[in-house]
Amino acid sequence: MNQTDVLIIGSGIGGLSTAIKIAEQRPDLTITVLTKTVENESNTRYAQGGVAAVWNEGIDSFDKHIEDTLDAGDGLCDLDTVRIVVTEGPERVREIIEWGARFDKTHSQQDYDLGREGGHSENRILHYKDLTGWEIQRALIAKADTLTNIVVLEHYFAIDIITQHHLGYVITRLTPGIECYGAYALNKRTNEIETFLARMTVVTTGGAGQVYRNTTNPVIASGDGIAMVYRAKGWVENMEFVQFHPTALYNPAGENPVFLVSEAVRGFGGILKTRDGEEFMHKYDPRKSLAPRDIVARAIDNEIKLRGEECMFLDCRHLDKEAFTAHFPTIYEKCLSIGVNPMKDMIPVVPACHYMCGGIRTDELGRNNIQRLYAVGECTCTGLHGANRLASNSLLEALVFGHRAGLDIVANIDAVPFKNGIPDWNAGGTTDPQEMVLITQSTKELKEIMSSYVGIVRTNMRLKRAMDRLHLLYTETEDLYNSTTISPQLCELRNLITIAYLITRSASMRRESRGLHYNTDFADKQEFIQTSLL
Ligand code: FAD
Ligand code: SIN
Repeated sequence: MNQTDVLIIGSGIGGLSTAIKIAEQRPDLTITVLTKTVENESNTRYAQGGVAAVWNEGIDSFDKHIEDTLDAGDGLCDLDTVRIVVTEGPERVREIIEWGARFDKTHSQQDYDLGREGGHSENRILHYKDLTGWEIQRALIAKADTLTNIVVLEHYFAIDIITQHHLGYVITRLTPGIECYGAYALNKRTNEIETFLARMTVVTTGGAGQVYRNTTNPVIASGDGIAMVYRAKGWVENMEFVQFHPTALYNPAGENPVFLVSEAVRGFGGILKTRDGEEFMHKYDPRKSLAPRDIVARAIDNEIKLRGEECMFLDCRHLDKEAFTAHFPTIYEKCLSIGVNPMKDMIPVVPACHYMCGGIRTDELGRNNIQRLYAVGECTCTGLHGANRLASNSLLEALVFGHRAGLDIVANIDAVPFKNGIPDWNAGGTTDPQEMVLITQSTKELKEIMSSYVGIVRTNMRLKRAMDRLHLLYTETEDLYNSTTISPQLCELRNLITIAYLITRSASMRRESRGLHYNTDFADKQEFIQTSLL
């Protein structure tokens, strides 16, 4: 039995910024961060474009950033949350700069070089070349290392959060007073399942892009936290709003994850074209290549289908080579590595699953309906993104809510005791898995189902078909889970099936098209509802 004042599951921007906030305020508290692979592997690490923040008041303003966020969110954002994130965001960005994060400056070195992305009416994206996430992750790890009350445990895979359910009580989603007492986690080095008892627990496990065949998300992004909280009867919301990034690099060799060609490239002047070099975005939106992501991804998907092509193209040949390679060195090198020279060839691009706008429902302090539990980052639904996230608002959201959740934990933890009587994990009656193919094949099937039936364009028939097939996968996987010893692969499959179910069910509940959810059987906007899965 491990005991820690605060248990944080995940070491991306959400997890580490929350840990640092608590550790700085309260050196007397112990903070344990679990991460399922290595400390620096996360969605955060791959963020390219940057962090959106109002930096240049006079030219930009909070009102403009709020307006852009609401516009992208297509009527479903929570205005209070948007205000909180936009107005507190610049202070949080200044804070990580103090902690050591570097952002590119203009030639004069006086000001930050502010980039532009789809849906933004002003240049407001702070970035570090096309490696912003890598730089933030580096700086947060370095800062956390200076705080002796933070312990990061690598290769610990959280399986379930602990609630009264583990003490034998029957809990439903409407049971009042559900409490979280920590989590069970598989130590991948010893294959033992350890109990982590905590006074407060924070879930910061990131997104779930791996539920689709093509995704920009690394393999860690299997929606574990959302699935764990849902299983524990926590509230989950807006899961139908899955963001497909319009421009992942099309590589016929196939890659997992697919490589992202940042939206900042379009902000820098890249133009979407067909194979013949014709522009097409004017047919879909007056903002053309810089329209919000849902519109651009649907347009590319439509052109691909109409023309029977594998991909569309991003034309950067007219851009200055020196400036392009200075801003986007990683993208330039990656393109060259597959035989595409962005200064001579158009870059082949396809949409790919990129971001979960829905997730664990949290309030303005990062709290869920489960007490003693917080959630921060991409695994949450705070109300900021509504039906479609505005580019580069995600890192900002994680910083703002990491700060808020951290301060709330600091203010309340003294009144919260450890829970006694928590049993060890019960692995009785299980045997080692005989055939890994049962897991790997089901994972492939799952991705195919979601990509074919619950992708960018949906229909009632496709959603029903997905649900029928998911049911079979669910039953088979639960049988496997109940009879074999636990492995990360099996847990991830189980979590991905839960995510797939939540996306498909929410999509079926939404009888309209809005933001990222587009159902040809309900092509118009209808009601303003949140699809809460209580
Ligand atoms: P993550 O950074 O994904 O961290 C999750 C952590 O949880 C990881 O450490 C993981 O190992 C751990 N974990 C997961 N499950 C378990 C488990 N069961 N047990 C233990 N540990 C677990 N957003 C922007 O704002 N700007 C951008 O420019 C931008 N670019 C992006 C580019 C790419 C290619 C991608 C994939 C995303 C991008 N995003 C961007 C989105 C943004 O990076 C993420 O939303 C954000 O980093 C999520 O941070 P997080 O802390 O919530 O999760
Ligand atoms: C990108 O660089 O295009 C990704 C930005 C984001 O996901 O916010």
